Amino acid sequence: MKSKKLKILVTGSAGFMGSHLVDGLEKMGHEIYGVDDLSGGFMRNVSNKKNFTKLDLRNRKKTAEYINKIKPEIIFHLAADATEGRSQFTPFSALDRNIVSYMNLLVPAIKNGLKKMILTSSMSVYGAQQVPFNEDMITQPEDVYGSAKASMETVTRVLSNVHGFKYVIIRPHNVYGSRQNISDPYRNVIGIFLNRLLRNKSFYIYGDGKQERAFSYIDDTIPPMIRAAFSKKCEGKTMNVGGEENISLNKLAKVLLEEYFGTKKIPKEFIPIHLPARPQEVKYAYSNHDLAGKLMGFKPKTSLSEGLKEMIKWAKEIGPQDFVYLEELDLENDLVPKTWKNKLL
Ligand SMILES: NC(=O)c1ccc[n+]([C@@H]2O[C@H](COP(=O)([O-])OP(=O)(O)OC[C@H]3O[C@@H](n4cnc5c(N)ncnc54)[C@H](O)[C@@H]3O)[C@@H](O)[C@H]2O)c1
Repeated sequence: MKSKKLKILVTGSAGFMGSHLVDGLEKMGHEIYGVDDLSGGFMRNVSNKKNFTKLDLRNRKKTAEYINKIKPEIIFHLAADATEGRSQFTPFSALDRNIVSYMNLLVPAIKNGLKKMILTSSMSVYGAQQVPFNEDMITQPEDVYGSAKASMETVTRVLSNVHGFKYVIIRPHNVYGSRQNISDPYRNVIGIFLNRLLRNKSFYIYGDGKQERAFSYIDDTIPPMIRAAFSKKCEGKTMNVGGEENISLNKLAKVLLEEYFGTKKIPKEFIPIHLPARPQEVKYAYSNHDLAGKLMGFKPKTSLSEGLKEMIKWAKEIGPQDFVYLEELDLENDLVPKTWKNKLL
């Protein structure tokens, strides 16, 4: 039986994950709409320009007008200020672009008959608890971004209970791959390292580099998000999704340099430079994915070197990018990392 064509809205659709998600959903034959204010995304990522609208979700009136017109049945909400490390210095943006924007979207969507919300949260809601993080742990964020994501999760559960729409909450972590913003000096560690290499420069590691993460390749991350949206079993669930190979940043740097230079010897001037640790950076952060495995057979397939090879190929095509800094942070003081303060990248 042919499944019904659904009206689906993806927010943050010119961004890294959002644009891949739109492409995946379009292949299923649904009617897909995308919005983004292009603060962190790019038109080059938007494949269906006809159904794309430049919209800033911080604008309550314009967002309501848009939702009243489209009346989406399903929303994948990805629009965000995802600068976790910077959020201690830009809390207004973390609030406005995450919590406030989400409410501006969700309220009119409920009024217009929303059936399901797929909220992209983040592993940052766990904070510095025992790794690997699992979904039974309480949320204990260590940073402003994580606390915004944790409130967005809570509000989703509460409003779903009261107003009856279904939801799935996905907590991805350290996603990388083609179309990632590599010109943002505040986030996306692989993107920053890679852009520095494209610019013929070595990169900086905050702290001793022994912090551990598990990196998630984009092609392993988007399909389970789509599967979760259409699975009855996943309704009302909160799930970790992502890579399972936890490694230190020092090891990441080594693998990236090996993949970047291939068979050539790595030149000495590309040895990473260590800087003081950033405030509130969690040392060990990676997740357990048993729940996603049980509910939808989730298992990441791509090794770090395979994923990096693909990302490097794409990055060499777009070439070196200028890093784009904010004119001003909400809190400018001596705690601001000098890479940002002195625009070192
Ligand atoms: N990439 C990761 O490693 C990762 C990990 C955990 C969670 N997430 C979450 O996944 C989602 C997507 O992340 P991403 O890596 O693709 O980031 P991204 O920056 O590429 O995408 C976010 C998009 O949201 C847009 N946006 C920001 N504020 C907006 C506003 N007010 N109105 C409309 N659009 C706005 C930006 O222009 C950008 O295109 C985010 O919610 C992020 O918090 C990402």
